[in-house]
Parts: sequence; structure tokens; C-alpha cells
Amino acid sequence: MRIFLTGATGHIGSAVLDALLRAGHEVDALVRTPEKVQQVSLRGVRPLVGDLSVPATYAAAAEDCDRIIHAAFEASSAGQHVDRLAIDTLLAAARRRAEAGKSAVVVYTSDIWVLGSTEAPAIEEAAVNPVELVAWRPEHERFVLGAAHEGVRTAVLRPGLVYGGARGIIGDLLKDAANGLVRVVGNGRNHWACVYDRDLADLYLRLVAHPEVSGVYHANDEADERVDDIVDAIARHAKSRPDVRHVPLEEARKKLGPQADALALDQLVRSPRAKAIGWVPTLHSVAGSVARLLEEFRTARAAA
Ligand SMILES: NC(=O)c1ccc[n+]([C@@H]2O[C@H](COP(=O)([O-])OP(=O)(O)OC[C@H]3O[C@@H](n4cnc5c(N)ncnc54)[C@H](OP(=O)(O)O)[C@@H]3O)[C@@H](O)[C@H]2O)c1
Repeated sequence: MRIFLTGATGHIGSAVLDALLRAGHEVDALVRTPEKVQQVSLRGVRPLVGDLSVPATYAAAAEDCDRIIHAAFEASSAGQHVDRLAIDTLLAAARRRAEAGKSAVVVYTSDIWVLGSTEAPAIEEAAVNPVELVAWRPEHERFVLGAAHEGVRTAVLRPGLVYGGARGIIGDLLKDAANGLVRVVGNGRNHWACVYDRDLADLYLRLVAHPEVSGVYHANDEADERVDDIVDAIARHAKSRPDVRHVPLEEARKKLGPQADALALDQLVRSPRAKAIGWVPTLHSVAGSVARLLEEFRTARAAA
């Protein structure tokens, strides 16, 4: 299949790109600069220099592809608006394909934080209750899902915190531990929903290949890990044990803004819809995988 991918240089998108290529797909990858072309120039990839905020740079390329995966996100104050523009552009491309009688599937990357704190394990049908940081996301999800009846199949994927490599919040914990001080927002007794990057990529692969993909899919390893347990496991593997400081939420908000509340979320999450299409995560927890994650972290840092 020919697949249009945004975010191919990102934490999630780079894992998705690897998985798509391993599975033998051709990938049209949107990248922002000619330098980034180098990063994705592997066999089977057609790099396309453009920007999510400039639809003319990628609308036609998306229309040429059998599947569209949106895994990019602009980390700026315009991020939410750029995301909506990208969704509009990608859904319009899919609609044009459908009108021409071609298959059209759009997979949108959302975020498990839209669930807010959960009182019981939350499945995909659970009501959303987003923290401020992602308060805008459910509307984007609804927009993507609502486009499905126009002859286009759409899926919303909500990854947990992604681990693997050197990036992301777990990557930051590994780095902080190596530097001797790990800060935890809140009391650390809250649970995070997490997912290994390669397992997450496998779910994208299943979604693009599945003939009836539609609706919301959670992606997490279901380990129900407390933040303190993750941090403790990482600390035990550090060359010298780092200090761990619990930062009261109020104080953390002053430094991190709305991200503090996202990090303090207490989430128990289940992914039954993903499992129903055969998805089986290979890594089952962060704490149980630290030795491997440290190796990946060092390899990724050395390659950067
Ligand atoms: N990582 C996680 O733990 C996690 C968990 C749940 C949900 N998510 C969601 O998943 C999505 C991707 O996250 P991520 O962690 O992979 O992010 P990331 O590592 O920051 O990567 C973002 C990607 O988007 C690209 N990008 C940014 N602005 C762009 C623009 N204007 N035009 C074209 N490309 C642009 C970046 O390109 P450059 O290389 O040029 O910067 C990069 O490839 C986000 O929506 C995020 O909220 C992430």
C-alpha cells in the first residue's frame, strides 16, 4: 500500500515509518526541511518538503495515497489551529479519493490525556474529561470520526505515554536520572498509561491494513504503573542513584503550566478495541523494561 505519513521525524512517526517500511509499504513522508529529508531517506520513502500549515504543500500527495496517517504535531502556540487545518486538508484529500471510487482511510493521532483521571479502567467508549492542555482535542477527534460517513473510513488512535528511544516523558526521566535529579509532579502515587513505541507502531500498521477500521482505539500496555514505581525502577538502574524530588502540583504549575496537571493525571486505561484487531503489546511495563530502555536511550543519544 502507499501511505501518506505526517510526523515521520517525530517520536511516534519515526517508529511508524520503520514499521510501515518493514511491512513493505511505500511511504510519502511530509517533512519540514530539506535537512529532514536525509533523516527519512530510506528505501521505499518518498520525502515531501512542506508544512502542515500550508495545505498546498501536501494536499495532492495525500490524495495520491491509499491511507493517511497524521502523526505530526506542531509544538507552538498555533499547534491546535495547525492541527485542525491539517485534519481539514487530509479529510478533504480522503473525500476526493472516495468520490473517485478509491479507498480512503485516515488515522488521526490523539492523546490518552483526553480521558482525564479515571476512576475505573477506561475503555474506548468511556466519556472524555480532558485536562486543560488537551481541552481542544475531543473536538478534533469528533471531527475526524464524523467524516467517516462521507465514504471515508476514519480512526482516532489515543496513545499512552510513549516509551522507547531517547524522546518523550519517559526519555526525559532516563536523562534526568543520569543527571542525578528526577522531579515527580505530585505525590507519585498516580498511575500513568504507557506504550512502547514499536508496539504503538504495530497498531498503526494494523489500522491501515484492517478492512473495517473505524472509531477510537486506545494504545497502552495496561501495566497500571504508579509514577513512583517507574521512577524507582529507573533510579535503581542508574550508575549512581539519583535524588527523587516530589514537586507539589501548585509549584509544578508555575514551571510547567498546564502540562503539570497532565503529568499528575491518575489513569487506568484498557485497549480492548485494539486487541480485538489482534494487537498484542510486546513490552508490558516501563519498570520491567528499564534495562532495555536504557540501552535504546544510549543508542539513540549516540546516533543523534
Ligand atoms: N510522545 C508521546 O508520548 C505521545 C503520547 C500520546 C499522544 N501523542 C501525540 O502524538 C502526536 C505526535 O507526538 P510525538 O511525540 O511523536 O511528537 P514529536 O516527537 O514532537 O514529533 C512531532 C512531529 O511533527 C512534525 N511537525 C511539527 N510541526 C510541523 C509542521 N508545521 N508541519 C509538518 N510537520 C510538523 C515534526 O517535525 P520536525 O522533525 O521538523 O520537528 C515531527 O516529525 C502529537 O499529537 C502528540 O500529542 C504523543
